[in-house]
Amino acid sequence: MELPLTKTGIVGLDKLLGGGIPVGWSTILSGEPGAGKTCLSVGFLVRGIEDYDEPGIFCSFNESKKELYLTQLGYGYDLHKLESEKKFILLDFSYGRALGDGQLALQQYRLDLPALTKKLKEAINSIGAKRMVIDPLTIISLLFDDIREIRYNMFRFFDVIRRFGVTSLAVVETKKKDEYNVEEFLAAGIIRLYNERSGAKRQRGIEIIKMRGINHKRGIFPFSITDKGIVVSPDVEMPS
Ligand SMILES: Nc1ncnc2c1ncn2[C@@H]1O[C@H](COP(=O)(O)OP(=O)(O)O)[C@@H](O)[C@H]1O
Ligand SMILES: [Mg+2]
Repeated sequence: MELPLTKTGIVGLDKLLGGGIPVGWSTILSGEPGAGKTCLSVGFLVRGIEDYDEPGIFCSFNESKKELYLTQLGYGYDLHKLESEKKFILLDFSYGRALGDGQLALQQYRLDLPALTKKLKEAINSIGAKRMVIDPLTIISLLFDDIREIRYNMFRFFDVIRRFGVTSLAVVETKKKDEYNVEEFLAAGIIRLYNERSGAKRQRGIEIIKMRGINHKRGIFPFSITDKGIVVSPDVEMPS
C-alpha cells in the first residue's frame, strides 16, 4: 500500500522528498539562526492553504502574532486575511522571549504539556486544520528538568500530535552543524537547513536527514529565499 503524502508545496522540496511528507507525521525542521526555518514553515502552511485547500495552525513561541503578520506581509503572505477566512490560526505564546526565560513564560500562560496539546487540538478542530507548525519546539524541553524526562515527554507529545492527524513541522534550533537534539532522535523525519559561510559568502543548503517510509534524495541541495519563498534546486548537489 502506498503511503499517503502531504505535498509541502515548497518549490523543489517535494522532489527531494520523493513526493512529500507522510500524512499525519511530525518532521523536525532544524537549523541555525537565520537558516530559513520560519520562512519554510510559513511557506508550508500558506502553500497548503492556497494550493491544497488545507488549513493550518502556527504555534509561535518566538515571534508575536503582530510581529509575524507584519514581517510576513512584507514578503507577500497575508496571514491576517487567511485567518479571517478561517483557514489559518496563529497561537501566540511569544511572551517568553520578552521575559528571556522560557520556563517562566510557559508558567505565565499556565502551559504544561497537556494544556498545550488541548489548545492545539481546539485550534485544529475549529478550522479543520491539516497542517501544523511549532516554532520552535525547543521551548517545550524547558518544561522538563532532565534528559530522560524530556525524552519521555517529547515521545508522548509526538504520539499525541500523530493522533491529531495533522502533518506537522516542529522547528528545532541548533547551534553547531553536526549537533543533534533529543527531539531529532524521536521524530519520524528530519529536514536540516544550512547557511554555510565560505569566505565572505554564505550558501544556503537543505538536507533530508531522515524520513521514515520515504525514498528521499540524500545529500545537501542548494536553496534560495526569493520573493516567492524558498526555492530548492533538487537536481544540483552542493559541493562538499
Ligand atoms: N516568507 C518569507 N519570504 C521570504 N523571505 C523570508 C520569509 N520569511 C523570512 N524570510 C527571510 O528569510 C531569512 C531567514 O529567516 P528565518 O526564516 O526567520 O530564519 P530562522 O527561522 O531559521 O531563524 C531572513 O533573512 C528573513 O528575512
Ligand atoms: Mg525562526
